[in-house]
Amino acid sequence: MNNILVEKKDKIAVVTINRPKALNALNSETLGEIEQVVLELEKDDEVRVVILTGSGEKAFVAGADIAEMSTLNTVEAYDFGKRGQGVFTLIENSSKPYIAAVNGFALGGGLELSLSCDFRIASDNAKFAIPEVTLGVIPGFGGTQRLPKIVGLGRAKEMLTTGAMISAEQADKWGLVNRVVTQEELLPACEEVAKKITRNSAYAITGGLKAMNEANQIKQEDGLEIEALMFGKAFTYPDQKEGMAAFLEKRRANFK
Ligand code: CAA
Repeated sequence: MNNILVEKKDKIAVVTINRPKALNALNSETLGEIEQVVLELEKDDEVRVVILTGSGEKAFVAGADIAEMSTLNTVEAYDFGKRGQGVFTLIENSSKPYIAAVNGFALGGGLELSLSCDFRIASDNAKFAIPEVTLGVIPGFGGTQRLPKIVGLGRAKEMLTTGAMISAEQADKWGLVNRVVTQEELLPACEEVAKKITRNSAYAITGGLKAMNEANQIKQEDGLEIEALMFGKAFTYPDQKEGMAAFLEKRRANFK
């Protein structure tokens, strides 16, 4: 595997997205590898809890890969959105709890990845945003459905429309993360929580998580379909070309 590291110890797996040169951005290859790891861990009886994090001190995941997305047409973008949605839904529906250890930027698809985990613990340098509107698109990996359920509709809409980053402290106040610790404490803190989980009944945890997810997901499938259609449609407008080209050329987008 080129972009993922997996370490297992004491019934806990730590999965690290490892593409530091692109701030761990999710390209198709990385999405495929995450899917493979999630499916393998699901079958691994030695693993009871999964901690998901990003490599380096700067980023959890800085989003879906903008260079890869920049050339997509509407059908390809719909498929790319569906691909990400599918992998993240696999995490959400896993029988094992996933803890996101958010160690830096969690932007766009990165924030959406953390939202598919059961809960999030952040380091104090973490920053959260769904900046897709600055690129002329919308969140395409489940964010429009999951973010409002966690922070509330008004806060989610502010994040969506401004694209602005919020600090770890703000994320804590909004309930987006369960707690904030220093960078050094992040993995130990997640491991401590994970260890508590491993002492409890795996069957009961799976059942409880399933019940909570079911209650929370009425019509989410319909919402995800609308999201994929709107994400794909954004790629028919010039704003997507301008927004993504501007990012890659390191300049501010000039939307008409
Ligand atoms: N995709 C591809 N490459 C990315 C990336 C991304 N999402 N985020 C960062 N990178 C790359 C940069 O292009 C840069 O590469 P080079 O060194 O080859 O130029 C490298 O990572 C380091 O990034 P910066 O030089 O930009 O680092 P910085 O410290 O100046 O800024 C940042 C950090 C604020 C996170 C900035 O990189 C940034 O704004 N990234 C994009 C964030 C974003 O818009 N994410 C949402 C993507 S859209 C999405 O996710 C859609 C969806 O829901 C499916």
